[in-house]
Amino acid sequence: MLEYKNVLSPIKIGALTLRNRIESAPSNTGNGTFEGFFTQESIGYFELKARGGASIVTIGESNVHTKTGVAHGRMPCLDNPDILPSLIRTTDAIHRHGALASIQLIHPGRRANKDYYNGTVYGPSSGEPLFAGPIVEMDEKVIEEVVNAFGDAAEMAKLGGCDMVMVHGAHGWLLHQFLSPLNNNRRDKFGGSLENRARISLMVIDNIRKKCGKDFPIEFRLSGSEYVEGGLTIDDMVEFAKIIDGKVDIIHVSSCTFHNPATNTHMFPSAFHEKGINVPLAEKIKKAVKTPVAVVGGINDPDLMEHIISSGKADIVSLGRPLLADPFLPKKLMERKAEDISPCLRCLVCLSGDFVPYIKYPIRSLKCSVNPIIGREQEATRKIQPERKKKVLIIGGGPAGMQAAITASDRGHQVILCEKSDSLGGAINLIENISFKSDLKKFKNVLIKRVLKRDIKVMLNTCVNNELIDYLNPDAVVAAMGAEPIKPNIEGIENKNVILATEIIKRSEEIGKKVIIIGGGLIGCEEALNLSSQGKKLTVIEMRPDVVIDGAYLYREALMINLAKHPVNIVTNTKCKKIVETGVLAIDKEGREVLFKGDTVIVAAGLKSKIQQVDSLRKYNMEFYNIGDSFKPRKVLDAIRSGYDIGTTL
Ligand SMILES: Cc1cc2nc3c(=O)[nH]c(=O)nc-3n(C[C@H](O)[C@H](O)[C@H](O)COP(=O)(O)O)c2cc1C
Repeated sequence: MLEYKNVLSPIKIGALTLRNRIESAPSNTGNGTFEGFFTQESIGYFELKARGGASIVTIGESNVHTKTGVAHGRMPCLDNPDILPSLIRTTDAIHRHGALASIQLIHPGRRANKDYYNGTVYGPSSGEPLFAGPIVEMDEKVIEEVVNAFGDAAEMAKLGGCDMVMVHGAHGWLLHQFLSPLNNNRRDKFGGSLENRARISLMVIDNIRKKCGKDFPIEFRLSGSEYVEGGLTIDDMVEFAKIIDGKVDIIHVSSCTFHNPATNTHMFPSAFHEKGINVPLAEKIKKAVKTPVAVVGGINDPDLMEHIISSGKADIVSLGRPLLADPFLPKKLMERKAEDISPCLRCLVCLSGDFVPYIKYPIRSLKCSVNPIIGREQEATRKIQPERKKKVLIIGGGPAGMQAAITASDRGHQVILCEKSDSLGGAINLIENISFKSDLKKFKNVLIKRVLKRDIKVMLNTCVNNELIDYLNPDAVVAAMGAEPIKPNIEGIENKNVILATEIIKRSEEIGKKVIIIGGGLIGCEEALNLSSQGKKLTVIEMRPDVVIDGAYLYREALMINLAKHPVNIVTNTKCKKIVETGVLAIDKEGREVLFKGDTVIVAAGLKSKIQQVDSLRKYNMEFYNIGDSFKPRKVLDAIRSGYDIGTTL
């Protein structure tokens, strides 16, 4: 068994000692007050990461100069001293658990959003408005003002109890805009050569040093590559890293730019990206500098973390979503409980709310598919004892049922978990063959181990009926019975060339070379990508005008980018009329009848809850709850949350 001794070893950063190499990456919560003050909820979020063992907990994007630009609503504003009481409460909560508190300083530059402040939108160069405009080129006076504001904000952070700061020089915010040829056309000392484009970053670093002293570490987040034609490359960024080498205390390597939204799902790597996607960039930078290097991005595997540190590719691993999935990851590594870590699925559910362009007021309600506590940490960590110990019968061993069993058992209830098939896992068992779902499979195994480790009576191959309920005589019944596929009323649906999406694993041998999928929702399109990766030719027929409208926004983007790399024919506004031996007869958007040829037809027309089966088990004399897909077919997130919620309220 790996001991993770490299990733768990301390490191000195300036005058500070980090207890291990795991940093909680900058993240914001969106649940601060309107003025950007921290709330009980946001404090709980940061405290949980400290409690879980991270060495640095980094509070995300905090504004330095409201007068010249604000990026988001409800973001902390370090130019307002009224933030201090709640900032101090936040840093106290982080310190209580032995972690260091850091905060990220940001100026949005041309990405300022005038919904949130009243003033000019500035950028390194003038240009077309993004959210509002026109974008006005910063003159030297404004540059001086902004540089000073960074220093003042760092001072405010120090006053608020932060042990260090992170300067945001990545992702297309102001300092990155100055660096990038995509945004900077200046001809003065702030434009042209890399030295000139880097000047404002150096001025910011100097200003912070001057105001906060040499013993107050500065971490600088940069994008190791923009991955946009004409943009910054890793070679440019190695040169930039040399410029800031020795002037900052940690060089933090991320990648990409909001300047090109197509890179968003690389900046927040999805399940379709390789793990540790920025490690090669960090490695190149590390070879060129003496300053310790941190790396972020899709590092959701402890073995990979250990490898990154032991091989010297970076000195610190910075984890964003993996610490949402399991804030206790560092502690579990220390306690040799790696097998109990909930893996981040890189499903982008946590971030997607912020990116939906067609919602006027995107309110991020922070959630995580595998961690039901995220977004309500304070509420969830209050251990409410049940009024009395109950005998709880849970019907269905999918994610909702397992999570309900785990939570109810942890609260002292006597739990019986019945599953009608011969194994636990429920709907997750249906994705076993999909390579980009391997972390979901891992999560299923984590849940199963958690169930088996507890005093939960698991009854497999047990179909619960009224007689069994009467015999077991529980105080409460929780139905977590899953959903069943919708079989559309199409002629030929019973043909032998037709396979329901839920039968794919069982009937995989029957799937031919040319496959037609009826239904372009998430399940249909994920299966199309999966089968296409196996060399099959795919057609997806969707009757609505677009596909994957049921997917989280960023995940959908990532899926569509990947589908576009495969020869998958997606036809929308097309209604299936009849399934024949040679394929599917459909009516296209012009009303013409078209034959789509294929050997196999997969039906992915959605799922429906098993409400009749559920209702047939209801009793008048015991508590009865219906959760997960058998309440409403939705995502893993909903299954886990509903399981957890019922477990905490029983
Ligand atoms: C909920 C959430 C909020 C985030 N907020 C910030 C932020 O305020 N500033 C920032 O630079 N990055 C932010 N990020 C990005 C992360 O710091 C990190 O770069 C990204 O999630 C990729 O790393 P990961 O794969 O470990 O999650 C946020 C990410 C998440 C999931």
